[in-house]
Amino acid sequence: MAQPWEPWHVSRGLRCISCGALHGLRDVIYRCGACGDLLDVVYRRPGETGAALAARFRVRQVSDLAIDRSGVWRFREMLPFYDDESQIITYPEGNTPLLDAPRCAQYAGLRRLRFKHLGFNPTGSFKDYGMVAGVTQARILGMRAVACASTGNTSASLAAYATRAGMLPIVLVPETGVSFAKLSQSLDYGALTIMVRGDFDQAQALLRRLAPRLGIYILNSVNPFRLEGQKTVMFELMEQLGWRAPDRIVVPGGNLGNSSSFGKALRELEDLGLLSKRPRLTIVQARGAAPLSEAYESGHSERLVRVHASTLATAIKIGAPVSWKKAARAVDWSDGWVTSVSEQEIADAKAMIGRDGIGCEPASATTLAALRRLASEGTDERVDPDETVVAILTGNVLKDPDYTVRYHQSALFEEHRSETKIIESGSPLASAFANPPVIVDATESALADAIEARMHSR
Ligand SMILES: Cc1ncc(COP(=O)(O)O)c(C=O)c1O
Ligand SMILES: [Zn+2]
Repeated sequence: MAQPWEPWHVSRGLRCISCGALHGLRDVIYRCGACGDLLDVVYRRPGETGAALAARFRVRQVSDLAIDRSGVWRFREMLPFYDDESQIITYPEGNTPLLDAPRCAQYAGLRRLRFKHLGFNPTGSFKDYGMVAGVTQARILGMRAVACASTGNTSASLAAYATRAGMLPIVLVPETGVSFAKLSQSLDYGALTIMVRGDFDQAQALLRRLAPRLGIYILNSVNPFRLEGQKTVMFELMEQLGWRAPDRIVVPGGNLGNSSSFGKALRELEDLGLLSKRPRLTIVQARGAAPLSEAYESGHSERLVRVHASTLATAIKIGAPVSWKKAARAVDWSDGWVTSVSEQEIADAKAMIGRDGIGCEPASATTLAALRRLASEGTDERVDPDETVVAILTGNVLKDPDYTVRYHQSALFEEHRSETKIIESGSPLASAFANPPVIVDATESALADAIEARMHSR
């Protein structure tokens, strides 16, 4: 793919990432009609300077207008696909914190580590950044129903946003492996929730075939408008850093929408003079669901071989990531890297993030797990301890409580798939940082003993 890629266009539209064909901004399509590849939403270059835009974004934080306070629409000059501000939907979303994590920094062998925690969103994951844009486009198109196939977080977000916008939310989730916390959100927000006897990739393929016939708008991350909303994670982050870019940004990779949108955002910021340097985008996959990492490690990043996905980090259990070409474009442009981490590394890193009083869902912990390894390895992809690093936490700790409780009770087992494809308990994972609950008799002395034992062991 030609590098660097052109961020703007002479008019608004949907531009193919491969053949460059331009399609209409209101075409209900998800892929290029000419060659079938992915589409970018493109705009004319903003008329203002980067500095003028940055000043405007900042002032909006104290505005009384809902769209100014939204962490997405505060940056609306960077995603001007609407015709009129009255078309915009907001919850509001975004405005997520950047958190210092000293214990995690030490665990990874870094001088300093900060987490941008996207779990502080209305439905508890980063998906709200993109869903608000996707549902806004659905409203502009006059859609009555929107749908997604999801490992859980996208459904929760779609359900909330579509319901609030007066559309029917339809979500397809795998029959097994979706956390109850996420499922409960879709049910509570009134989505038609369909459990498909199959995996995420199968559900996604089914939906793609059915949607045009039933007049449903698809809001999976193949939808380029979702990625427009997710760009604002980077705008918000750069603003929080005083527009001084970090050396590295580490992000979990599943369907690879988030990393793709981060790349597009950074590319646009660079062109506007708002990026002091290119942060190296480092994507982390779970070892059992790591097709892009395998492509990079084998030196063939231009080709992706789908894998049969297996990981307890269900949010990134994806064997054929839709947006891999856009993600690879971002990694190559930023001189980044793609790696993978084991189930054990994820579990321990998640517990460490908890020790900093932060918490996240398993997929998010891949970031810390990878940093720990990359900072200790002597390879070309080594992370320098003095680098400024921001890791992206994508989901709230309450999204998968079962995993967390099992870890702390030393009862977490790797997913295991037998020949007959029945999921059984696999090998046990070690719980090196377990903090199990303590059970005591209901007596003063027993309680005092339990408390004193912990106080003295600190
Ligand atoms: C918590 C969490 N982290 C990471 C991801 C992966 O993001 P992407 O599919 O954009 O790579 C997801 C996607 O569902 C998620 O829910
Ligand atoms: Zn094309």
